[in-house]
Amino acid sequence: MQDNIETLKKLEDSDFHGFTELNLSCPNVVGKPQVAYDFELTEKILTEVFSFFTKPLGVKLPPYFDPAHFDQMATILNKFPLVFVNAINSVGNGLIIDPEKEQVVIKPKEGFGGIGGEYIKPTALANVHAFYQRLNPTIQIIGTGGIVSGQDAFEHILCGASMLQIGTQLYKEGPLVFDRVLSELEAIMNTKGYTNIEQFRGKLKTFGE
Ligand SMILES: Cc1cc2nc3c(=O)[nH]c(=O)nc-3n(C[C@H](O)[C@H](O)[C@H](O)COP(=O)(O)O)c2cc1C
Repeated sequence: MQDNIETLKKLEDSDFHGFTELNLSCPNVVGKPQVAYDFELTEKILTEVFSFFTKPLGVKLPPYFDPAHFDQMATILNKFPLVFVNAINSVGNGLIIDPEKEQVVIKPKEGFGGIGGEYIKPTALANVHAFYQRLNPTIQIIGTGGIVSGQDAFEHILCGASMLQIGTQLYKEGPLVFDRVLSELEAIMNTKGYTNIEQFRGKLKTFGE
């Protein structure tokens, strides 16, 4: 985290005026836990960052799996002038196994690694929607996780995402993925008569209580 603070200090002193994303959620650093699973440490770091950083800043979050954790993290994030939250980073420390070789498929951390792609879409959608319901409306949400098609993009926006990120499918398909997903999203919007994402963003329906 000290590296991140030093980098942010350099950015603050530079001519850079774009958006900066602070990664609180890398699951692949050997021997280091994910910062955003430690609520006290997260608040301490954000307090230090906002003591000097004045440019537009957002954070990348790991997935949470419990409403109490959504509540606790949102309460912390709402104390700071963040412009966005990116949910979610990989689902940490899964194992993919090759049954022929009876072996893990990647070398670092004895095969334990962050999981992305279609497996993680339900968890990603839950995190986007839970934070959409809890964060100050000034904090926009980047929906990330399991976006392969325009329908996945549509679902993320229904859950409240204002922007989207594609990781695994970009790795598999290359940069043409963006045009394909966009045209599939536009086709869904045309069928439904939407001309702007604000017409359905965050408007996920439930069955009521
Ligand atoms: C090859 C690869 C490298 C990644 N590296 C980073 C990284 O450096 N920082 C980060 O915040 N997330 C990283 N991620 C996680 C993605 O940004 C994304 O949060 C996650 O994979 C879920 O999205 P997806 O289902 O579209 O892959 C990486 C993902 C992949 C597949």
